[in-house]
Amino acid sequence: MKLKIAALVIGATFGMTGMAHAAGQIVIKFSHVVAPDTPKGKAAEYFKKLAEERTKGKVSVQVYPNSQLYKDKEELEALQLGAVQMLAPSLAKFGPMGVKEFEAFDLPYLFDNYDEVHKVTQGAIGQQLFSKLESKGIKGLAYWDNGFKNFSSNKPIRTPADLKGTKIRIQGSKVLEEEMRTLGALPQVMAFSEVYQALQTGVVDGTELEPSNLYTSKAYEVQKQLTLTGHGYLGYAVVVNKKFWDGLPADVRTTLEGAMKDTTKYELQLAKQDSDKAIAAIKASGKTQVYTPTPAEKAAFKKTLQVVHEKMADRVGKDLLKSVEKETGYVAPK
Ligand code: LMR
Repeated sequence: MKLKIAALVIGATFGMTGMAHAAGQIVIKFSHVVAPDTPKGKAAEYFKKLAEERTKGKVSVQVYPNSQLYKDKEELEALQLGAVQMLAPSLAKFGPMGVKEFEAFDLPYLFDNYDEVHKVTQGAIGQQLFSKLESKGIKGLAYWDNGFKNFSSNKPIRTPADLKGTKIRIQGSKVLEEEMRTLGALPQVMAFSEVYQALQTGVVDGTELEPSNLYTSKAYEVQKQLTLTGHGYLGYAVVVNKKFWDGLPADVRTTLEGAMKDTTKYELQLAKQDSDKAIAAIKASGKTQVYTPTPAEKAAFKKTLQVVHEKMADRVGKDLLKSVEKETGYVAPK
């Protein structure tokens, strides 16, 4: 643990001095935990291209995919210390650092589609949530999508009862934990980079991953069954170290903000396409049987999981939940 902190501090020192690069270049280290050929990975590269072109090389963006630098939990600590300048963690990752409101996004079946998500993330609620990060030394720039999560396992999953006793890997979120317990499953919190091996060795039995992550991590190769439950949303907040960002020359910051706006447009279009392509590729591989539940089967999952909204309302904030549900027209199952 001590070593890890020492590494972060050294990284932070270099990160800060890295700003005054040999040629006066500003370096932005952008770390993430997924593969380069995911929506997040591609968008990070797209931002790099726009940022470097538009600042005429004044800014250099260095993208580190696949948890090369940091695993899930360490990423935000590294950002706060200034060892990296930019990240795009999943929204669930802000809960453990004390901003529990972000765990609202983990509530089961809160959103039916991307349009509903965007009403929240791309609107006033999204901005209001970003303001909660400032006291942590973090500034939110944009919300990106990944997609909708599905259950995978080695046994067929048709009803909520089929998950009973199944060890499911989750991100560290109290809402996700409650969701798994409601299904009688055993939640196992684990970094994304460890999922493949954990499935292979039987440390966990299943996942609730989104298609492009299931596909690019190859986790589907060690899962016999995938049921398209679409039971939760996975999205990202692109965040920067606030001190670093506020300290940029104003013209550079404005140019980077423009580059981020255009990258976000690109990313939001890409995410859905990549999800659909990943499902098709998993089907075509023949390694995993992909099952599309009937509307009645999906409704049974939604009904069973509604209690999680009630149990977690206080944690994520009752008013926030109400305003999200109003914005999306959420109808609780009877
Ligand atoms: C996960 O841990 O499953 C995701 O947050 C990974 C990611 O960043 O897409």
